[in-house]
Amino acid sequence: MTDTLDIKITKTQHSRLAETDFNTLPFGKVFSDHMFVADYIDGEWKNFEILPYGPILMSPAISALHYGQSFFEGIKAYKHADGKVSIFRPDKNAIRFNKSAERLCMPTLPEEVFVQTIAALVDIDRDWIPGKANHALYIRPFMFATDPFLGVNPSATYKFVVIVGPVGPYFSKPLRVKIETHYTRAAEGGMGFAKAAGNYGSSMLPARKAAEEGFDQLIWTDAKEHKYIEEMGAANAMFLLDGTLITAEAKDTILDGVTRDTVIALAKSWGIPVEERKVSVAELIEGAKNGKLTDAFGAGTAATIASVASISYNGEEYFLSDPQTREFSKKVLSTLDDIKYGRAEDTNGWNY
Ligand code: COI
Repeated sequence: MTDTLDIKITKTQHSRLAETDFNTLPFGKVFSDHMFVADYIDGEWKNFEILPYGPILMSPAISALHYGQSFFEGIKAYKHADGKVSIFRPDKNAIRFNKSAERLCMPTLPEEVFVQTIAALVDIDRDWIPGKANHALYIRPFMFATDPFLGVNPSATYKFVVIVGPVGPYFSKPLRVKIETHYTRAAEGGMGFAKAAGNYGSSMLPARKAAEEGFDQLIWTDAKEHKYIEEMGAANAMFLLDGTLITAEAKDTILDGVTRDTVIALAKSWGIPVEERKVSVAELIEGAKNGKLTDAFGAGTAATIASVASISYNGEEYFLSDPQTREFSKKVLSTLDDIKYGRAEDTNGWNY
């Protein structure tokens, strides 16, 4: 039981903690001892439960599997030197969680319930949070439709599940990225702003093709003309061009990223001009050529701040400055880390 939420808690009899190698933590492969599950039945959320992590039994006819009524969030919890634990801006994810739910015709969850369930699970599995630099507990809340029904209609029943696991850095080196000019991640009127499972499924073929050409990530462009930058892989794309931080405006094809929002807030607090607007491929390539593009990175919860080493466009590769020399992204990363790991005062109230 938590103070405010009635959660049935069954603790594992066989913790896997001692046998987990915290020195080798490939992203998304190691999960903690417990998970949270709730059911949406008869128009309300019920059966709140934390139980040992494990398989979930379900019908092969659930509509999530057939029609993709499924979405997720990504959040991280950090361990401070004094042993305290904080979760970074889960209130922002709670808001986006409900935007995704609405777009996919799925039920919403009160924001405080979202945050409290996550906090309850993190609290129970707090020993799974790595105490090392660049490491965190990755939190993956998700919802999926559970009606065993093959009609193309919104399900009447759903599951809300949270799993967590210790992670190290998502990327191990600065990225060679390719500007995608054929495939599209999201179109206007679509669901690019939602963390819909299908958005990620459809990105895999283009990403694999790019990987076969030697690229680490794609930069997505607009669906109509492929002339404007949208996102970078599964992160927001951000650039410092002629001293101004530029990124695509958060519209219906763009994920309203929490890290994106945080970077914008930091930049503004440092007096750096910020423009959320259409960012053209042409201006980036021009900036790469004339040296005015002094920083480029992907911003995301999993990716954190992922530096771009080079940008390729129409078969031409443009190398940017050595990421070690980039003052802006280095300052963003160190400032963020100081706040997340409790070394600096959290003046914005970002740590829960
Ligand atoms: C996150 O940053 O949490 C994401 O959602 C990216 C994930 C698909 C790896």
